[in-house]
Amino acid sequence: MIKRLWAKLGKSSLPKADSLAPENIPLHVAIIMDGNGRWAKKRGLPRVAGHRSGMKTVKRITIAANRLGIKYLTMYAFSTENWKRPKDEVDFLMKLPQQFLEIELDELIKNNVQVRMMGTREKLPSHTVSALEEAIKKTENNTGLVLNFALNYGSRLEMLEAVKEIAKDVQQGHLSVAEIDETVMSRNLLSCELPDPDLLIRTSGELRLSNFMLWQLAYSELWFTDVYWPEFTEKHLYEAIQEYQRRARRYGGL
Ligand code: FPP
Repeated sequence: MIKRLWAKLGKSSLPKADSLAPENIPLHVAIIMDGNGRWAKKRGLPRVAGHRSGMKTVKRITIAANRLGIKYLTMYAFSTENWKRPKDEVDFLMKLPQQFLEIELDELIKNNVQVRMMGTREKLPSHTVSALEEAIKKTENNTGLVLNFALNYGSRLEMLEAVKEIAKDVQQGHLSVAEIDETVMSRNLLSCELPDPDLLIRTSGELRLSNFMLWQLAYSELWFTDVYWPEFTEKHLYEAIQEYQRRARRYGGL
């Protein structure tokens, strides 16, 4: 009884959107959506039920982020390491973008959202790529939030590929070694059209980056919560942004 009361009080103490300073909303929020499996296990459900529920959270948070005026939202949906999971789970995860877009694309369009993807397309099933390509095409002229799915994405691979591209440019005489700087590196990453994330959110209590945007997160504010991704609500997003707004970003200066 007391426990429930505390939980209720805890919930009601979460901030509202209008408590946030509108002039300091992060431009780019990146999210490691973790804890789907544990959420399902806690309920005696198969892991994939957690992923399905996590898909609904993606929609909810996209709409909330767009309303707040966040410009870029990058969601870690599948890493280059996630292929190690059982085939059934991988197959299920590969169907999610298509299912999500079948259900939500019209509403995303109504909300002026642009869909994008960041990751290696080669290994992905054609149905996954074609659903995403279609959504990217249909939303390319939208001017609202950019919903960027990191799918078959791994930061070390991304950086290795960038280094190879830069080496090729040097080899072919388009670039000198002295000209290689942070701008050249950023330009060769999969995220080249996005600013670096201002805020990284990871759910489920794990305190690591799991090969996600290692270059781009160099000066991002990090925020972790114990809440599992399927339970993550708009209010948790506001809580993360409220904490972000309390931080002083110094970028190594004073
Ligand atoms: C990590 O949780 C989550 C993933 C590997 C998949 C994330 C995918 C979604 C939330 C749905 C994506 C939706 C779209 C539209 C692409 P986990 O399974 O590792 O959880 P656990 O650590 O509790 O086992």
